[in-house]
Amino acid sequence: MQVPLLDLKAQYATIKDEILAAVAEVLESQRCIGGPKVAELEEKVAAISDCKFAVGVSSGTDAILNSLMSLDIGAGDEVITTPFTFFATVGCLARTAAKPVFVDIDPKTFNINAKLIGSAVTERAKAIMPVHLFGQIADMDPIMEVANKYDLAVIEDAAQSITSTYKGRKAGSIGMVGCFSFFPSKNLGGAGDGGMVVTNDEDLFNRLKVMRNHGANPKYYHKFVGGNFRLDPIQAAVLLVKLPHLDDWSEARRRNAAFYDEKFAGTVVKTPYISPDCVSIYNQYVIRVIKRDELVAHLKEKGVGCAIYYPVPMHMQECFKHLGYKEGDFPEAEKATEDVLAIPIYPELTDDMQDYVVENIIQFLT
Ligand SMILES: Cc1ncc(COP(=O)(O)O)c(C=O)c1O
Repeated sequence: MQVPLLDLKAQYATIKDEILAAVAEVLESQRCIGGPKVAELEEKVAAISDCKFAVGVSSGTDAILNSLMSLDIGAGDEVITTPFTFFATVGCLARTAAKPVFVDIDPKTFNINAKLIGSAVTERAKAIMPVHLFGQIADMDPIMEVANKYDLAVIEDAAQSITSTYKGRKAGSIGMVGCFSFFPSKNLGGAGDGGMVVTNDEDLFNRLKVMRNHGANPKYYHKFVGGNFRLDPIQAAVLLVKLPHLDDWSEARRRNAAFYDEKFAGTVVKTPYISPDCVSIYNQYVIRVIKRDELVAHLKEKGVGCAIYYPVPMHMQECFKHLGYKEGDFPEAEKATEDVLAIPIYPELTDDMQDYVVENIIQFLT
């Protein structure tokens, strides 16, 4: 049996005709930049995120970059974030010349340890950027408390967590701004790159819109230096076909997670912890195991897809050496890089496939 980490062809087969028709509609219109598809997607993503405003952008990375630039975060500003994330979170900070200030993670959720944030605040601090990793929102109440106390903006990197909830509140709606990615492997993934920024702040919304278009308003009159952060209408058309399925797909992922949770109970496999405050969308199902690297080789041989998110914490990346961090600074993030493993969780998995994954893991580890 072969069980890939993700099978996008299985999903595509269920909506192929609609996707082709939607893409054809855009091509026939030749409205290839902006237009009604982008506007409709923005309206719908704002609505499912319980936010007033949304701005479609070219990727999750550009959602973060646009947010930082629109909040005027740059040289000399510090932004407190997690070292256990995808590179884009921290890469965008570096690109605006802001300084990432890392805080270790909570080993149970893999998200930033909210209790440690207060002591990382200096007078140069301008924002906190929690990352809602693997589909679960970070512990936002204490994060917002620190942010309110020191007047810091909160930028939610919700690239992996669209529609997930914390105390009933939607990802992206709790801080000042939320950033989503439509990278194809996300729960809501396009046919290429795409992203969205959501906010309830009208002034920020207006800046985000201008910033995504080179800071021009009106055209050819540049208020500030922005970028080309626009979302393609073809991507918006594909995402509009997929959007009505998002809740069912995330529910199927939760069912698959419950299946694994039960099968791994009482074994050496540590299954994901989801806080009672949260409903996860399980963009990834990440277990913690001993002999992780040997297990990866074994699963590969058995035709089971898996991946390590993430093998190197951000404070130990070569390009961030100048920040002056060293091994041992964030022990929980470092430990996580050594034993985490994402296994298949996509909606179309069958019980037989999941049994095969479980058997191969348990057999190897015991
Ligand atoms: C946590 C996190 N932040 C940011 C991004 C960047 O999104 P994109 O790949 O759409 O640029 C990703 C995407 O993988 C992500 O997982």
